[in-house]
Amino acid sequence: MGVIERYRDRLPVGPDTPELTLGEGSTPLVSAPRLSAQLGVELFLKCEAMNPTGSFKDRGMAVAVAKAVEGGAVGIVCASTGNTAASAAAYAARAGLPAIVLHPAGGISLAKQAQARAAGARVLEVRGTFDDALRASMELAESGGYVLVNSIDPNRIEGQKTAAFEVVEELGRVPDVVALPYGGGGNTCAYAKGFGELGARPRLVAAEAAERSDTLASAIRISEPVHRSEIDELVAAGRAEVTTVTDDEIIDAWRALARSEGVFCEPASAAGVAAVRRLELEPGSLVVCVLTGHGLKDPAAVDLLATATEVVDPRLESILEAVSGTSFTSSGARTAAGWKSREKAPTSCRATAPISRCARSRSSPIRRTTTSASSTASRSSAGSVRARPRSRPVSSPEPPPPSSSPTPTPRSFSASTSKGTPTISRPRCAAASA
Ligand SMILES: Cc1ncc(COP(=O)(O)O)c(C=O)c1O
Repeated sequence: MGVIERYRDRLPVGPDTPELTLGEGSTPLVSAPRLSAQLGVELFLKCEAMNPTGSFKDRGMAVAVAKAVEGGAVGIVCASTGNTAASAAAYAARAGLPAIVLHPAGGISLAKQAQARAAGARVLEVRGTFDDALRASMELAESGGYVLVNSIDPNRIEGQKTAAFEVVEELGRVPDVVALPYGGGGNTCAYAKGFGELGARPRLVAAEAAERSDTLASAIRISEPVHRSEIDELVAAGRAEVTTVTDDEIIDAWRALARSEGVFCEPASAAGVAAVRRLELEPGSLVVCVLTGHGLKDPAAVDLLATATEVVDPRLESILEAVSGTSFTSSGARTAAGWKSREKAPTSCRATAPISRCARSRSSPIRRTTTSASSTASRSSAGSVRARPRSRPVSSPEPPPPSSSPTPTPRSFSASTSKGTPTISRPRCAAASA
């Protein structure tokens, strides 16, 4: 059952609205026992990656595209940091509408771009930022026919608010804290609206990247959040707070989620967890972090931030050598600074691997291990050959790496009021007055 069917009575839909769905919503709320223990709270993860196109966008997109169809649109258009594009393209395909997607050239994950292309959207790479792409999309929409399905469309917020309903339904109560990434702010507005409609007031924590225009978390790489004034109003009304998190904190949280909890999200999605780690929380608080997108959305991040693969000979000795010693440590870049220096690499090969390896493995940082009996040919084509001490038996794997930064990071709450006003005028988010 999709969100339109499940929450029909709480959405702006009527008999003429098609019940457009790809099965969005009803995503799992997964407990996070290790992170809970670390933080002294009861932490749950709202896994929005389990939506049909792998991100939270599908809830709002189902409603926005359904309303576009109802209104007789000839097509839809959006600007995107990737996930909106994937979602818009899929729902347009489902609805039988053409879709045009504008995204910053070279600035989004290729996996997300692939989703949009596969679904038949016309994908245009804009020479500029996301904000430039959004302005251009708005102009296209204003020129007639194509409906803009960015979150400035109130129907997007309406669909997205259903996640707040689900959180309360699944927990059987209102959580004390809800934390989520803050890019453009649409999702924060949507949760505020959803909780507001329930008469619920959890502490709503919107986590923005410290380096908005340059963060490694490409999904929230947005300099001018289109919903900033609404977010500021929510903050002023005590209904939300904005926390700034560094890229290193995002990486730490992202890695902790994957390695301590087995939940693989894209880097931007970990921003809420990074924020929660900064907060002073009442022991035992009920905390929900919204994980907005799937880890497979951004495989390049894994190449650059996680453990390298190794090529081994298919012999026990070679494998034993590989899994002993240092094989569970990373040879890839592990800091935001490391990531950024690699981002400057040619877009065809943004990886830790030398360029010469790219033809064989476009993005994977491969570490090759051979035994002393390995053939010369194998060595010469292998790149680095590492002999490592057999210090650890295979049967006793290393404990997982620490999932949190050992040094507490300074708290920094900012209402993000000092960053100027958005340059794009648009309809107000209903959440601010909800
Ligand atoms: C994975 C992911 N997380 C978070 C966000 C930020 O959401 P919002 O722009 O609604 O603040 C986005 C936006 O594209 C996203 O794709």
